[in-house]
Amino acid sequence: MPRILVTGGFGFIGTHLVEALIEKPENQVHVVDNLSTSPIELDSFLDSLGRPANLSWDICSVEHYHDSLAKGGGSERIDQIYHLASAVGPVGILTHAGKLAPQIINDTIRIIRLALRTGAKVVDMSTSEVYGGGRDGYCSENDFKIVPPQVTVRLEYAVGKLAAEIALVNTTKVTPLHATIVRPFNVAGPRQSGRGGFVLPRFLSQALANQPLTVYGDGSMIRAFTHVQDIVRGTLLVMEKGRNGEAYNLGNPANKTSILDLAERVVRVTNSSSKISFVNPKELFGPLFEEANDKYPDADRAINELEWHPQHGLDDTIRHSAEYIRGSQLASTAHFEG
Ligand SMILES: NC(=O)c1ccc[n+]([C@@H]2O[C@H](COP(=O)([O-])OP(=O)(O)OC[C@H]3O[C@@H](n4cnc5c(N)ncnc54)[C@H](O)[C@@H]3O)[C@@H](O)[C@H]2O)c1
Repeated sequence: MPRILVTGGFGFIGTHLVEALIEKPENQVHVVDNLSTSPIELDSFLDSLGRPANLSWDICSVEHYHDSLAKGGGSERIDQIYHLASAVGPVGILTHAGKLAPQIINDTIRIIRLALRTGAKVVDMSTSEVYGGGRDGYCSENDFKIVPPQVTVRLEYAVGKLAAEIALVNTTKVTPLHATIVRPFNVAGPRQSGRGGFVLPRFLSQALANQPLTVYGDGSMIRAFTHVQDIVRGTLLVMEKGRNGEAYNLGNPANKTSILDLAERVVRVTNSSSKISFVNPKELFGPLFEEANDKYPDADRAINELEWHPQHGLDDTIRHSAEYIRGSQLASTAHFEG
């Protein structure tokens, strides 16, 4: 019976991963999440799963979980660890300025220690932000990473994630640790919250209310939005078949788009009467806010080595996210009226 730990398992991506893992009754899944940025209402989520016997959880930080296991002698058996817990999002990271890189690195070191004690295989969820700007936005695992001269909170997030990756990979060289890395590109889909500053839930909430869609700057930024279900399938494949010490881009190159094009698609797909307005995000979030560089993936490594084939196009991803937001608006109206 595989015992699987998912840190951040009650987050946006984590809930979809946990759903996929508990589908196999032989998997014993344990979530560690402090609910600091979880987009779900925990009881409703657990009810929707039918409170399965093969799912357990601790509501606490990675630090607390690690320390309490270590104090207890750390004899618990764990076969696989998916490490997702992290501050995230262009707005979500801002309040962690100055503490972000140490948090990310220290939590990853705790996961390394736990994995070494238990013999667990690790998949670390890093980020496509480690590429800086790639080559005019094109990000390949084989390229140099580019560190820009300006120090920002976004850079602290990227460098923290990269340092954590490097610690993991180097540990695989000198210990029996088996660890692999996932670099997701602009994940989107049901349960994503706009709170961290993610663009698609913001556009959808605006479009569904027929309010103007607020595009930051001129909207020319390039992204490759990738459906959360495709990210989960890829992450499972990385755990199953990923080469020790290797990083895998998970992003759908077919969904490459500009933010302005995304806004226009959202209006079209939702049949909204919204107009598009252009705003300066620094006026909304202050001077620490920084837009990510253009980025889109070279996904060949995951496609060729893991046989990962992203299945959801951009309109599909927008539609699924819109259905979710409509559903949660209906649920909260019913709750309010009831
Ligand atoms: N959403 C994206 O587009 C995207 C892109 C690239 C990488 N990622 C990475 O994917 C992972 C998951 O992101 P997400 O979008 O699901 O974010 P999320 O905020 O929805 O999920 C993160 C979860 O981790 C929990 N958490 C945060 N810090 C914790 C800590 N110290 N201890 C315990 N729990 C903690 C939060 O409560 C939350 O439930 C993160 O590591 C993020 O860096 C996300």
